[in-house]
Amino acid sequence: MASQPDIPDLDPATLPRHVGIIMDGNGRWAERQGVTRAAGHEAGAKSVRAVVEGCRELGLQSLSLYAFSTENWRRTKTEVNALFGLLSKYIRIELDAIHKEDIRVFFTGRREGLTGKTIREITDAEEKTKNNTSMLLNVCVNYGGRAEIIDATRRMAIDFKQGNLSEDQFTEEEFQKYLYRPEIPDLDLMIRTSGEERISNFMLWQVSYAEILVTPTLWPDFRKDHLFEAFREYERRNRRFGGR
Ligand code: FPP
Repeated sequence: MASQPDIPDLDPATLPRHVGIIMDGNGRWAERQGVTRAAGHEAGAKSVRAVVEGCRELGLQSLSLYAFSTENWRRTKTEVNALFGLLSKYIRIELDAIHKEDIRVFFTGRREGLTGKTIREITDAEEKTKNNTSMLLNVCVNYGGRAEIIDATRRMAIDFKQGNLSEDQFTEEEFQKYLYRPEIPDLDLMIRTSGEERISNFMLWQVSYAEILVTPTLWPDFRKDHLFEAFREYERRNRRFGGR
């Protein structure tokens, strides 16, 4: 998967550890190109490939991608089907390369609402890559930040009720253990494409201290260069506030 790496002038020590991306603008891209929204998402999947490659080449620890939110069900059935069809195709085409690159894949979000087929595909992908350690790729599917917090709270309440947890254990550290994947660290950098300045229910717990970077580039146009530029900006912000 990793071709000749064109690693830019980035100091590995200043890279974010965990980057989250709200991949926005597929619809507008499609409209500008005069193609269907589904074709816009299809083009967006190529950006996913480029960005995963770029992160792996740089040695980034974790990447989270917002692929389908709990609010995205409001879209037409045609578009929802296209998005899940694309997810399935992505897994089918990319999983071997991802596995070879020693990347572990998580799909976080609510399983309820997903078809048996999707659940099987994502569970198999997680199972296949579970021993990989070079990078974590977290794909958020049927994901909402509030849903994650509510689901964690519910499970914590059950443990409390059953006497497995005491009141003084209601701490941030303990709460983290009840999130979908406790191994996922806080976000250092959150990128949103297409110029929208919103968090849109993305990783609300993990975004607390993240640098937020909004780029006007539409997601299907986003390539490694844009990613590296975002890391340079992150590096500049770190230099200003890191007290180094
Ligand atoms: C937002 O653009 C994008 C999405 C809701 C879906 C993101 C999905 C992909 C990039 C493709 C598949 C992902 C994987 C991991 C294979 P929008 O449709 O809201 O754009 P708009 O705001 O311009 O209408």
